[in-house]
Amino acid sequence: MEHGLTEKTNTRLDELWTRQAQAQSGGGQSRIDQQHAKGKMTARERIAALLDPDTFQELQPFTLEHPTDADVIPGEGVVTGFGQIQGRTVCVYAQDFTVYGGSVSLAHARKITQLQGLALRNGVPIIGLLDSGGARIQEGVTSLHGYGEIFSNNVITSGVVPQIAVMMGPCAGGASYSPALTDFIIMVDKTSTMYITGPDVIKSVTGENVDHESLGGAHVHATTSGVAHFMAEDETRALSLVRRLLSYLPANNVENPPGLPVDAAVPPADPARLNTLIPDDPNAPYDMRAVLDGVVDRGSFFEVHAGWARNVIVGFARLVGQAVGIVAQQPLEKAGVIDIDASDKIARFVRFCDAFNLPLITFVDSPGFLPGVAQEYGGIIRHGAKIIYAYVSATVPKISVVTRKAYGGAYIVMSSKSIGADLHLAWPSAEIAVMGPEAAVNVLNRREIAADADPEARRAALVQAYRETHATPYYAAERGILDNVIEPAQTRATLIAALRMLREQLRSKPPKKHGIMPV
Ligand code: HXC
Repeated sequence: MEHGLTEKTNTRLDELWTRQAQAQSGGGQSRIDQQHAKGKMTARERIAALLDPDTFQELQPFTLEHPTDADVIPGEGVVTGFGQIQGRTVCVYAQDFTVYGGSVSLAHARKITQLQGLALRNGVPIIGLLDSGGARIQEGVTSLHGYGEIFSNNVITSGVVPQIAVMMGPCAGGASYSPALTDFIIMVDKTSTMYITGPDVIKSVTGENVDHESLGGAHVHATTSGVAHFMAEDETRALSLVRRLLSYLPANNVENPPGLPVDAAVPPADPARLNTLIPDDPNAPYDMRAVLDGVVDRGSFFEVHAGWARNVIVGFARLVGQAVGIVAQQPLEKAGVIDIDASDKIARFVRFCDAFNLPLITFVDSPGFLPGVAQEYGGIIRHGAKIIYAYVSATVPKISVVTRKAYGGAYIVMSSKSIGADLHLAWPSAEIAVMGPEAAVNVLNRREIAADADPEARRAALVQAYRETHATPYYAAERGILDNVIEPAQTRATLIAALRMLREQLRSKPPKKHGIMPV
């Protein structure tokens, strides 16, 4: 008898260990080898790489869809449980492609829905590592029912705890909708795909020829569709992105984001550089990232949606250790214009920050909304409205800084005082007006210019006069629409002081079930 145990105890432990070993071997060594040959880790290897060492506590490893069948594999193709990331608890599930291609049976789905319930009730983030052939075909409607239950829980959980989906394999059909209902999607390049209808269906319906990768690979979703928030070169990098992302987020909506010790925060190298950053030529571009570098804690900016709608930048950063959400136009891309995709990108990020208590800091430099038939037909009115809806609804501290252009609609929607900014600031280079000088003069002084002996000289003089009176921050500052005009080099200090003062706003709002978000 081992360790002096009774024979009965020994037998019980033997059975446990045998069952554990069986569950842990998933679909068997040859399928594990195939998984590795594709450059993919197994479900358990992924969980181990994600979590702090030896912190994983597995749940329901012995689940069976059909307990009476002899050749079934325990665990139902998904490993679920909880563990720690940087010492903070998370719930995690990983689909096991070696078991029926990670496909979703009702029992598989219910392991996930039970974990979602656990995360929700205990206020901890939930991370899904997805690698699945979708609904288990031979199970029929019960697997669809299971998917529906997962989706329902995604919606109920939304805004209560952060939800993150890491795509580490195929994700066909409706299976894309659970990730779509989470807060962040990370895709592994080359090995993950997401699409609603696959290449075969597309070929038969529309005649188009497209392969899996160019239909729904990581590159497509990180740059063209905006479905993916992050793209990682490989699985290890994808999992470390999850760890970094969580470092900015609270565990749930009633906690504040975790702060770093104040003395751990390194200030920007050369904030005085901001004083000379804006070019003399109002149409010359500059890199908004240099503004962020001159303001936030060194190395703290963590960009979200970096490859999509690049005319706007969104991401997390820290100010003396405190996490904040940043929204900023990028003059280097389409002059920082607001288009349909930029609207969606901004609105979504603002909603997330508001749900999870991240103060919002907005840097504005935009000539306005993008003109064009394609934008109007695509519903820029409907999409742009989302930005207003998101900012007005947000009750977290909201600070905006106009670095240069803030014209027309772009001025209003980008966290202006009129839509609820707590503090609205501008640099001396700010141009705040209904429209740019050239366009304004064309409308206001058309006849005067045409009648002049030297129309071009007249136009130039009028443009200059408009620029001096209207396209400055002082017209707005004199009228109480700006709270202050600040020296660029003082931006960090001003924001830090403001964040110490501003708290969650307790604005009274009219009672209603909910508004109708323009979608
Ligand atoms: C049952 C499945 C399965 C599925 C894969 N397998 N998908 N079993 N149900 N949905 C099994 C395969 O039969 C195979 O088993 C093993 O998993 C590995 O699959 P392979 O095809 O060998 O792998 P690979 O070549 O890498 O291709 C992966 C794949 C492909 C692209 C995912 O398997 C595939 O196209 N599967 C079907 C995808 C699909 O149409 N799913 C339903 C979508 S509709 P053996 O034993 O032969 O090795 C849906 C509805 C969602 O999900 C509902 C929500 C609204």
